[in-house]
Amino acid sequence: MAKVILENVYKIYPGNVTAVQDANLEIDDQEFVVLVGPSGCGKSTTLRMIAGLEEITKGSIYIDGRKVNDVPPKNRDIAMVFQNYALYPHMTVYKNMAFGLKLRKFPKAEIDQRVRDAADILGIQELLERKPKELSGGQRQRVAVGRAIVRKPKAFLFDEPLSNLDAKMRVQMRTEISKLHTRLSATMIYVTHDQVEAMTMGDRIVVMKDGVIQQVDAPLDLYDHPANQFVAGFIGSPPMNFFAGTLESSANGLLFNEGTFQVRLDDSAQTKMTPYAGKSVVFGIRPEDMVEANTVAQPDPSHCMKATVEVVEPMGAEVFLYLNTGNTSFIARVDGHDKASVGEEMTLVLNMKKSHCFDVETGAAIP
Ligand SMILES: Nc1ncnc2c1ncn2[C@@H]1O[C@H](COP(=O)(O)OP(=O)(O)O)[C@@H](O)[C@H]1O
Ligand SMILES: [Mg+2]
Repeated sequence: MAKVILENVYKIYPGNVTAVQDANLEIDDQEFVVLVGPSGCGKSTTLRMIAGLEEITKGSIYIDGRKVNDVPPKNRDIAMVFQNYALYPHMTVYKNMAFGLKLRKFPKAEIDQRVRDAADILGIQELLERKPKELSGGQRQRVAVGRAIVRKPKAFLFDEPLSNLDAKMRVQMRTEISKLHTRLSATMIYVTHDQVEAMTMGDRIVVMKDGVIQQVDAPLDLYDHPANQFVAGFIGSPPMNFFAGTLESSANGLLFNEGTFQVRLDDSAQTKMTPYAGKSVVFGIRPEDMVEANTVAQPDPSHCMKATVEVVEPMGAEVFLYLNTGNTSFIARVDGHDKASVGEEMTLVLNMKKSHCFDVETGAAIP
């Protein structure tokens, strides 16, 4: 298995389209890394450069200590699984899985052993004689993964492999791929636009936007400490709420003033934020980091705000309240049994220890 390193990697397509810009990334042996970001941000291009399916414009890629810039895909010893499975329709499952090994002139007995081992791992032993059209989407995806497993590659690359499956099957295959990672102890690089997939599967997550890596971190570190407003808004559902306003000094310390409400920053932020006094900032707080004031014993008045309820969306265990301050719409995620009605003016207490501030111009988290 293998470590994968990207060093100052660029991909510039003809017509001067910069799909990937100065990517630097070190993926450890046996690590499960997820590349996530909106459509068009350069995820597939990055993966395809690692696989060798796309030329690198600038920079270097190393697999297992070897620079592979000029190594053809078949000699990179990695296997890629795509969204559209790409199974041969006229071949049985067995033959689909055996095909790559046959091309590489593996002995028949070795091929048979590997195909049967992979079928065991994936629980598709009884499907080996079927054709792809006789399989469900989930089964086809397993065969596509099986075809990668039999190669015993140094690294597995997945490009949105679950996008064609229905929601339930996606969740099931997500767990299966995570288990497969544990079982094979393989390096895996997984591309998705779905932040839930990224959060649940990755040892580390690479968030991309417009061809640029925004942040590389463990899932909860990304969630708790987003490096910028883009990452803050992309990871988490419903997303983080943002309020435009100003930081102001007061007798009571630094406040964030949105116009309709003012909240005092947490003690831990007071000193660090002093240089930003008087400046415009974007204030961020996640929907779960606020509660109705009347559910709290002694709410700190300097952490309270008022807003009007516009929509109530009961989810069962929790309820999403769509609120408006008069200046800003936002969402609160509160206990499912909280009573709230549309049109009601509500006081909320913010957990200021969990609040964020972002630079208005750059979007970078401050301090
Ligand atoms: N063969 C190509 N020629 C020109 N531009 C391309 C080509 N492939 C992708 N792009 C562009 O590169 C950018 C990144 O694409 P891609 O890596 O496929 O994004 P993602 O997988 O994150 O959706 C997009 O702007 C896309 O239009
Ligand atoms: Mg893609």
